[in-house]
Amino acid sequence: MKEYISYFRSEIDSMQGYVPGEQPKGGKIIKLNTNESPYAPSPAVRQALQDFDYEKLRLYPDPVFTELKEEIASQNGLSPENVIAGNGSDDILTITARCFTSKDKPLASFDPSYSLYPTLAGLQGAPYIAVPLDKDFNIPSNVMEQVKDANCFMIARPNAPTGNLYPKKEMEKICAEFNGIVFIDEAYGDFAEDTCADLVKKYSNVIVSRTFSKSRCLAGLRFGYALAHEKIIEGMVKMKDSYNVAMLTQKLALASLRDKEYFARHIERIKENRAELTSELARLGFKTIPSQSNFLFTIPPCGGEKYFLELKKRNILIRYFPAERTKDFVRITVGSKEEHSCLLQATKEILGM
Ligand SMILES: Cc1ncc(COP(=O)(O)O)c(C=O)c1O
Repeated sequence: MKEYISYFRSEIDSMQGYVPGEQPKGGKIIKLNTNESPYAPSPAVRQALQDFDYEKLRLYPDPVFTELKEEIASQNGLSPENVIAGNGSDDILTITARCFTSKDKPLASFDPSYSLYPTLAGLQGAPYIAVPLDKDFNIPSNVMEQVKDANCFMIARPNAPTGNLYPKKEMEKICAEFNGIVFIDEAYGDFAEDTCADLVKKYSNVIVSRTFSKSRCLAGLRFGYALAHEKIIEGMVKMKDSYNVAMLTQKLALASLRDKEYFARHIERIKENRAELTSELARLGFKTIPSQSNFLFTIPPCGGEKYFLELKKRNILIRYFPAERTKDFVRITVGSKEEHSCLLQATKEILGM
């Protein structure tokens, strides 16, 4: 074989790449590590799957997801021209990074936050500005000074992995004062007490993204969308793959979107489980950041790493982030009541209670 020589751009060779949470194959595992829903998607999705005519798969899908755009726009009080969809919200994030960052257009995000953001900057060869959150994982007072050179500022709200919600007033101030694109990642927004989607109507530099992976129980479907000013959407459409949302995905996402009742019930169920798990863990000595998402960021009394490893031995997966700011915590996805009772039993065993 011809000897391997790297023809990659140097930034690709020198970077590590994004590491997704573990997806175990088979076995009896309680999976609370990647913030999926413990519940099935809406029955309307199952019906749409059954009704789908497989012969249609020989054709390409609608490249501009017309029906979905209309439904999303109407549910958000916007026009279809304000909507773009993607193969999960990671696709929307990638499109955004490719549109708005480069060697001379830095990307900023908070730290700790979703680790895909610095990876996207790396892939673009764009400088990355990490803005440390304050000691309570809130926005630091000198944020505008820190991001003044960035062209794009990616903000997860609620934040991941910390689960807290920055005050909306502070978000609006950033949108008004930042000289660049403010990308508000609402992957967990459906579990929170408010949303920044309305800021799209007021600020032409704001993109708000959502995903079907968490609140709509459809991580396997790969569907996400973003809302923004029509000029921003127009430019992002130039950058996306021609057929970035599969035909089957479009059909099933639409069925999910139209079942508003199931969606509302699912959110309530997760919020109820979240409150229960938070108080059960508090009784066992855990210190949890009040969560506005479908996961808890919490300090176990026996230490983050030990707790993570001990649970893993018992086939329960959660997430551990060994960086300095996060090493005392673990992140636990809110699961079903049955999953919680297994988790709590294992926890008592680990703590010798
Ligand atoms: C903050 C945040 N944004 C975006 C995503 C990506 O979601 P998806 O690509 O499944 O829509 C995740 C996934 O965990 C996330 O935590």
